[in-house]
Amino acid sequence: MSRKALIAANWKMNGAKALIDSVSGALAKIQVDAEVLICPPATLLPLFPQTATLALGAQDISAEVSGAYTGQLSAALLKEAGASYALVGHSERRQYQFESDELIAAKVKAAIAAGLTPVLCIGESLTERQQEKTQQVIAKQLAAVYASHPKLLLKSVIAYEPIWAIGTGESATPEQAQQTHAFIRNTLASYDKDAAQQVRILYGGSVNAENCAALFTQPDIDGALVGGASLKPEEFAQICLSIK
Ligand code: G3H
Repeated sequence: MSRKALIAANWKMNGAKALIDSVSGALAKIQVDAEVLICPPATLLPLFPQTATLALGAQDISAEVSGAYTGQLSAALLKEAGASYALVGHSERRQYQFESDELIAAKVKAAIAAGLTPVLCIGESLTERQQEKTQQVIAKQLAAVYASHPKLLLKSVIAYEPIWAIGTGESATPEQAQQTHAFIRNTLASYDKDAAQQVRILYGGSVNAENCAALFTQPDIDGALVGGASLKPEEFAQICLSIK
């Protein structure tokens, strides 16, 4: 099964018009064998040049369609602003905004209903890894979204982001990441065997120009969700070039 690789950038609460220009410029110079996605702060979405080679995504969406939800942005509004993807359940939202698995499942559904592709972020904390609970944590996060709605799988991307690797400079090794990605794919196969082979599973957590190529050799790693290194235009372009 060949899956189209996806390299996604999560700018988090960083960036400005100048970064759009420099990243677009760096990407325009290269030919990439993957889909490239940028998730900037939502206010920057409409400022990107429209190009067929660059997809845009939101970093979060509301689970609601419309109404009295001050400060929230619906999937439809984000789509109108230029997004075709939405990150859902990033660990920073689970941690700082106390997002539950149930809310995250509702957001995945809202994204798909509006025609956005959700990138469901899952992953264990350092303590959970040390207690050998990685698989248990991930199985629960996946089950909350897909156990009763396996049809959503074909319209989703999964991002495995071990929390201990995010922003720490300490990426999972290719072997560690592959082991968990294979577990994720097997878990998804228990919901829908065929869909599990088609779903792209990204790795995220301190991905950079030096460690990405080894990660990308692993059979169940279909790309990356890049934080800090995506703010450096030349390095992000290098990461995009490293995928085969
Ligand atoms: O969404 C991206 C991840 O949180 C990874 O961030 O590459 O800065 O570790 P990082």
